[in-house]
Amino acid sequence: MSSHTIDLTDALHEYLVRQGLRESEAARGLRAETLAATRWHVMQISPEQGAFMALLVRLLGARRAVEVGTFTGYSALVVAEALPADGRLVACDVSEEWTAIGRPFWERAGVAHKIDLRLRPAVETLDALLADGQSGAFDFAFIDADKANYDAYYERCLRLLRPGGVVGIDNVLWGGRVADAAVTDQDTAAIRALNAKVRDDARVHATMLPIGDGFTLALKK
Ligand SMILES: C[S@@+](CC[C@H](N)C(=O)[O-])C[C@H]1O[C@@H](n2cnc3c(N)ncnc32)[C@H](O)[C@@H]1O
Repeated sequence: MSSHTIDLTDALHEYLVRQGLRESEAARGLRAETLAATRWHVMQISPEQGAFMALLVRLLGARRAVEVGTFTGYSALVVAEALPADGRLVACDVSEEWTAIGRPFWERAGVAHKIDLRLRPAVETLDALLADGQSGAFDFAFIDADKANYDAYYERCLRLLRPGGVVGIDNVLWGGRVADAAVTDQDTAAIRALNAKVRDDARVHATMLPIGDGFTLALKK
């Protein structure tokens, strides 16, 4: 069966980033800094995914967002830029080292005051928000951390979202490994299981998009 998604050559991707979106100077700088600072730079979402998420935040009229997996802060930066002046993003990670790379760029973009970074296992942060009575208080959630906990993050984010809120789940195509029956490691199995669950989940309207490494959007009914 032929692919219905255009193959992105490096040249075409470069064109897409140059012509298809507006990226702030701070966001561009953070991408360059991440590339220079760590070999793990591939964990960062792509500029086109960031622009898409920013548009989604604006479409939702989001004021409160939560992110699971911040790394050097690119997705947090683009989401915070799209939030209104009084908007807030709770950003969850466990790495002081990686998130420290992002902070100066959050400052440079003038959005640092919108980002509430919580450095502890994300399940604990999400459970603390729920225990604090914040069920239904969030408009947008983004899941992009350790795959073994994806289901735990999904369940908690759904509870934190208001009806009509959206959760974005990253890496759902997992470099193609989800469709390769020979791959049976735990992370791949966890992503496959959540993909199957979301497709059949009567609590949401959902669609999987071939952006980046695969991006599912699920709208809470
Ligand atoms: C794929 S990266 C996130 C990329 C980020 N969204 C971006 O666009 O740059 C995954 C992040 O999840 C974090 N992480 C891994 N396990 C975690 C856990 N149990 N709780 C919170 N964060 C975790 C890692 O430290 C890492 O920074």
